[in-house]
Amino acid sequence: MNPDARAHIRGYYQRHATGYDRQVSSAERRFLGEHRAWAAGQVFGRVLEIGVGTGLNLPYYPAGTDLVGVDLSPSMVELARLQAAAAAGRLSVDLRVGDAEALDLPDESVDAVVGTYALCTFPDPLALRFQADHLLRDPVPYVVDAGLDIVFTERGGRVGLVYRVVATKKAT
Ligand SMILES: C[S@@+](CC[C@H](N)C(=O)[O-])C[C@H]1O[C@@H](n2cnc3c(N)ncnc32)[C@H](O)[C@@H]1O
Repeated sequence: MNPDARAHIRGYYQRHATGYDRQVSSAERRFLGEHRAWAAGQVFGRVLEIGVGTGLNLPYYPAGTDLVGVDLSPSMVELARLQAAAAAGRLSVDLRVGDAEALDLPDESVDAVVGTYALCTFPDPLALRFQADHLLRDPVPYVVDAGLDIVFTERGGRVGLVYRVVATKKAT
């Protein structure tokens, strides 16, 4: 990732971490919670969540999930630790400050990867930028470029803001 872009995103979430849950709370109640439950319900086993933020997906993972959560912002990760504490006994949670584009994990070491409202923060000067997000970004080309097979897409939510994508490794 471009170091300036990384610093911008990290700085933004460092400044706004404490207000993040409050900022998204009305959207959470109205429509985000439903999509979190859907996304977290797709996975099982050892799961990597990129851009885990304040851990708002943790209540929705199936019991027994072994989760590694990575986020650029130490302040967001600190708040996610509260969600991890609340999920203790139901989930195993390992939270790390790090860059999803330079993961400190062995290849093929997770069963699934989840990212919600996170891919839109990765740098791309061609899309509309709002705060630290590119709200119009289409995630599908990134997933295809990563060599995965798309098995499901659906654009929904209010004004089509939520794009559900499920992809798997190519069959060998
Ligand atoms: C809009 S928030 C979404 C947080 C959470 N996924 C959710 O659904 O509430 C975007 C998060 O992605 C993180 N992020 C952005 N780029 C990242 C990167 N390259 N690696 C790890 N985390 C990143 C930000 O620090 C921020 O916490």
